[in-house]
Amino acid sequence: MQSDDLVSSLKTDLFKSSGTFRVLVGVTGSVAALKLPSLVSELLQLPGVDVRVVTTEHAKHFYNPSDVSVKIYTDKDEWELWTQRSDPVLHIELRRWADLLIIAPLDANTLGKIANGICDNLLTCVARAWDTSRPLLFCPAMNTAMWLHPITAQQVSGLKEFGYVEIPCITKKLVCGDEGKGAMAEVSTIVSVVRQYLPKPVESSQKT
Ligand SMILES: Cc1cc2nc3c(=O)[nH]c(=O)nc-3n(C[C@H](O)[C@H](O)[C@H](O)COP(=O)(O)O)c2cc1C
Repeated sequence: MQSDDLVSSLKTDLFKSSGTFRVLVGVTGSVAALKLPSLVSELLQLPGVDVRVVTTEHAKHFYNPSDVSVKIYTDKDEWELWTQRSDPVLHIELRRWADLLIIAPLDANTLGKIANGICDNLLTCVARAWDTSRPLLFCPAMNTAMWLHPITAQQVSGLKEFGYVEIPCITKKLVCGDEGKGAMAEVSTIVSVVRQYLPKPVESSQKT
């Protein structure tokens, strides 16, 4: 696609988005990224919610994009979109668009990057540019051995110190065959936490 076409498709997608509460889902290279299609479809059931996805390259291995009903932004989009000064910068447009960022799953690699301010792809650039007055929720997901390594607790605490909200991982039999803590929270749990951030409906002042 030509850059002009990309810019206009971005404008159509983001600037004319429906919904009153905009949820950006970040997805990273954990096997729990398999749940992306169901997470997106359940978020879209919430009243007034619109959803977009930012994916890492490794996350793409785990889901079929045709099972996801909203636009998925990739590193390629970030770089193809910008060719001249007047062009939008995708990670800035996405952080502007979103009322809430949820990273589900957050793998050990991207956890470490965000905790240390590293921003070498679209998702970590959105996180690095995030307006910390807006909610950022994260759902760690990793093998139990990774979860138990002492650096994990340090990095999770670092994210909480930024004001980000952890949706804790759970204990179950992991895809690798190990049993223990490290599995991503259930989709229903994640959606119920997002629900708590939705704007409260305005009460009608007219009495009947
Ligand atoms: C089959 C498979 C499953 C993986 N599952 C996880 C996982 O659940 N959690 C995790 O932290 N890393 C997992 N990894 C390793 C990450 O994919 C790897 O660290 C990758 O570099 C992450 O890149 P990203 O953070 O840019 O998505 C897995 C790798 C493979 C090959």
